[in-house]
Amino acid sequence: MFRKSFYITTPIYYPSDKLHIGHAYTTVAADTIARYKKMRGFDTRFLTGSDEHGQKIQRTAKEKGMDPKAYVDGIVLGFKELWKALEVSYDDFIRTTEDRHKEVVQEIFVKLYNQGDIYKSEYEGWYCTPCETFWTERQAEGRVCPDCGRPVELVKEESYFFRMSKYADRLLQHIEDNPEFIQPVSRRNEMVNFIKQGLEDLCVSRTTFDWGIKVPFDPKHVIYVWIDALTNYYSALVGGQPGDSLVKKYWPADVHLMAKDIVRFHSIIWPIILMAAGIELPKKVVAHGWLLLEGGKMSKSKGNVIDPLVLIDRYGVDAIRYYLLRELPFGADGYYSEDALVQRINSDLANDLGNLVSRSVAMVEKYFGGQVQSPVENDDIDRDLIKTAGAVIEEYEQLMEKYELSNALAAVWRFISRANKYIDETFPWLLAKDENKRARLGTVLYNLMESIRIITIMIAPFMPALPPRIWEQTGLTNAADDVKSWDSLQEWGLFPSGAVVLKGAALFPRIDNEKVRGEEPESAEAVKQADVKKDDTKKDAGEKQGEEQEGYISFEEFAKIDLRLAEVLKAERVEKTDKLLKLGVALGDERRTIVAGIAKHYTPEELIGRKILIVANLKPAKLRGILSEGMILAASDGDNLGIITVDPDRNIPGGAKAK
Ligand code: ME8
Ligand code: MG
Repeated sequence: MFRKSFYITTPIYYPSDKLHIGHAYTTVAADTIARYKKMRGFDTRFLTGSDEHGQKIQRTAKEKGMDPKAYVDGIVLGFKELWKALEVSYDDFIRTTEDRHKEVVQEIFVKLYNQGDIYKSEYEGWYCTPCETFWTERQAEGRVCPDCGRPVELVKEESYFFRMSKYADRLLQHIEDNPEFIQPVSRRNEMVNFIKQGLEDLCVSRTTFDWGIKVPFDPKHVIYVWIDALTNYYSALVGGQPGDSLVKKYWPADVHLMAKDIVRFHSIIWPIILMAAGIELPKKVVAHGWLLLEGGKMSKSKGNVIDPLVLIDRYGVDAIRYYLLRELPFGADGYYSEDALVQRINSDLANDLGNLVSRSVAMVEKYFGGQVQSPVENDDIDRDLIKTAGAVIEEYEQLMEKYELSNALAAVWRFISRANKYIDETFPWLLAKDENKRARLGTVLYNLMESIRIITIMIAPFMPALPPRIWEQTGLTNAADDVKSWDSLQEWGLFPSGAVVLKGAALFPRIDNEKVRGEEPESAEAVKQADVKKDDTKKDAGEKQGEEQEGYISFEEFAKIDLRLAEVLKAERVEKTDKLLKLGVALGDERRTIVAGIAKHYTPEELIGRKILIVANLKPAKLRGILSEGMILAASDGDNLGIITVDPDRNIPGGAKAK
């Protein structure tokens, strides 16, 4: 059967040092797109690799007293380990020191030389070694690289040149005819401006060092490292291959993915090489933004890098992949911070997704001995849930076509929130009390399991290690593939009823910032606590402040109050009073009765379904003969009174501790 193909590449990174989360970001994004395309039935090929030649690598190796090949061999092993740890499913890894690559680079160089597009002359100008980029006198104003701001070096040597200028008009025409060629549009405009300023012929060989691919007919020259590197996307399909089946199947590439720093090479130099060589151009050059640190862009040479392996070790691969792909809106820059990462884990993963799965599975266990029932009849709330699922799937598909990964995740999370809200709206724990509502309860829980099935399929490309863990809990480990496939999203209701769920460990345990990192607490609230602790120390030191100072309590005293979020299940007036309401609340699985003096301010109907803050360890007391097992918190100015609730967008479950 003929299948449509899809070929995606990442940049081949410099093995000058270990990779950091910036590189991880691009590679994980490409992996997610590749996995998605595979799920959509494409014959997908995903290429990554290493860019091993050039002056920078040669110098780095020399500083370490090593032969360049031996040096890069070690670093490249590290690349592969990192990709394994990040579940990156590349189909091929190309190293530019491999013969299969060198041969193709030399062939193209010779072809361009023979047809007069490459000629010999003398280069005099500036060079940025970290970027491996030539700059003219005007561009290198102030003797610094206009891209990275580092000092440039003067280069004067015999060189071969590539007639880029000859192809400028054709390239502009191509960009105009193919509006999707360079994405996003901001980068496209930048490139168009750059070309319109006039392209100079490009210096494409060096003679002052030798760590590179030799010009076959003039071996004292090595080929410019960017000409060498860019060719990898093509050489990986043709070099060392017995036939032309790979190139036939996968060329032209569908997407070259990278950050904005190297778009110029990919959307100007690379297409012109291909035009000159008579090879079809890639379909798209897609550039994302930079992951920044407070101090600017992370970079190997600045030494301000974050090692992804350390993070994977601490938080797990799914969380890291999720954070990276969620945090950076497509095309824009974003700041990396470990606090934001922990925040994402605790709110999106542990709270939203983790709780949806654990609550749903727990209820199927509790109410139906673990067996998922067949749904009976859907009502309006159910239909709204189903409609949201359909809309989110469609939106996700559209966003993935535009590589808007962060927005695609946001869409999935909208559905997760919808499903959590569905639990609050359908009150399964109340249905469970009524024998006549068994069928309705079974339907509600079925719809939750079906929602989880859909969510699991949609997050699979992003967090490939997660689905097996969810299937285990929802009883679908051995279920047929066609209830886990992308196509199965076409239809609501493919969750096989009769499946037996099995509650397991939390998918994402909540992270306690201080414990994990053993660092100074950073949240405002933690700082408050730390201040109080400091106060205590002072007191110990004999200053005797703290307790005696009027109006203060110690943190220990505050911590004695067990503040909890409670979900109001029932509310009714207490007979013969005009002040009191009797509330039935849930703290997780625990049920309590609370009598509260708020009847003048709230009707019972207004309160049902809301989450309110209570003091859970107040000594129970009888009010009008009813034992009240807690106190609700409200704010009042004397006339008006408002109960204290929690941000409804956050889906904090009943029972959660307030602090
Ligand atoms: O440029 N934020 O290799 P390189 C986001 N060998 N992405 C980042 C990043 C950051 N802070 N830092 C790096 C080279 N990247 C050449 C490529 S391709 C024919 C040759 C990612 O090791 C991003 O994809 O400097 C960026 O384009 C790439 O790493 C640069 O990697
Ligand atoms: Mg770089």
